[in-house]
Amino acid sequence: MHIRRKAWTEPQLQSCAYFVEHPRERRGHWRELFAAPKRPLELEIGCGKGVSTAQMARSNPNVNYVAIDEVRHVLAVASKNADEAFAPEPVSNLILSAVDAMFIRDSFAPEDRVSRLHISFPNPWTAKSKHYKRRLTHPRQLIQYREFLVPGAELLFKTDDGPLFEDSRDYLRMCGFEIVYETDDLHASGYAPNYVSEHEALYAGQGVPIRFLIARMADLPADFNWVMNGRRLDNIDRRESGR
Ligand SMILES: C[S@@+](CC[C@H](N)C(=O)[O-])C[C@H]1O[C@@H](n2cnc3c(N)ncnc32)[C@H](O)[C@@H]1O
Repeated sequence: MHIRRKAWTEPQLQSCAYFVEHPRERRGHWRELFAAPKRPLELEIGCGKGVSTAQMARSNPNVNYVAIDEVRHVLAVASKNADEAFAPEPVSNLILSAVDAMFIRDSFAPEDRVSRLHISFPNPWTAKSKHYKRRLTHPRQLIQYREFLVPGAELLFKTDDGPLFEDSRDYLRMCGFEIVYETDDLHASGYAPNYVSEHEALYAGQGVPIRFLIARMADLPADFNWVMNGRRLDNIDRRESGR
């Protein structure tokens, strides 16, 4: 089964016209891949099988999207989902690429001018505090995202995990993001448009409320260097683990 899955992934990605094989070579030049490079550029991190990604791109033809994941197989599935969502038209405003978000600043630069960041159902990494730094909303990540986001850019974050949601609110405030909308039950909130991801459908189907927030990037707080210091970041994680 594993061999079959691997055998299917690479041909699918190689035949995908909108899959970027060498993301570091695109750093600062993602916009040039789109027919209309001046349109707003939005980035999804950890897109998985791209169920909501495909719907979002199809519904917003005036926005350019880059969706990344670190797993090539899920990106191959995402390309199939996008092909289906756009059929019979070709996929026009979506690029997929394999990027490990821990090193995202190697692939995205200020020149990319990303105006929205989507993070849906990332791994919560709640079991051990020493793993918190792997969270896609951890300050170590937010500091990197700030480099390629435009001032006033929005970060849209969804999760079923309460502790991750609460910690992420703290992380965002620490790193100069203002929370402008939040709900503890996205599907009861009336918020629209909402593009339902694979994991969102799974958890909502089990009756689990979906937490959702929008945070707007403002100036860095005066004590940002305090947050940048590695030792203090460790302290943040220890404090959280004592909950
Ligand atoms: C639980 S899935 C959620 C997928 C999708 N966003 C959804 O809501 O259905 C988390 C995804 O994040 C990806 N991921 C985890 N860590 C990552 C990292 N460091 N860089 C890029 N993607 C990552 C995983 O490969 C996986 O596809």
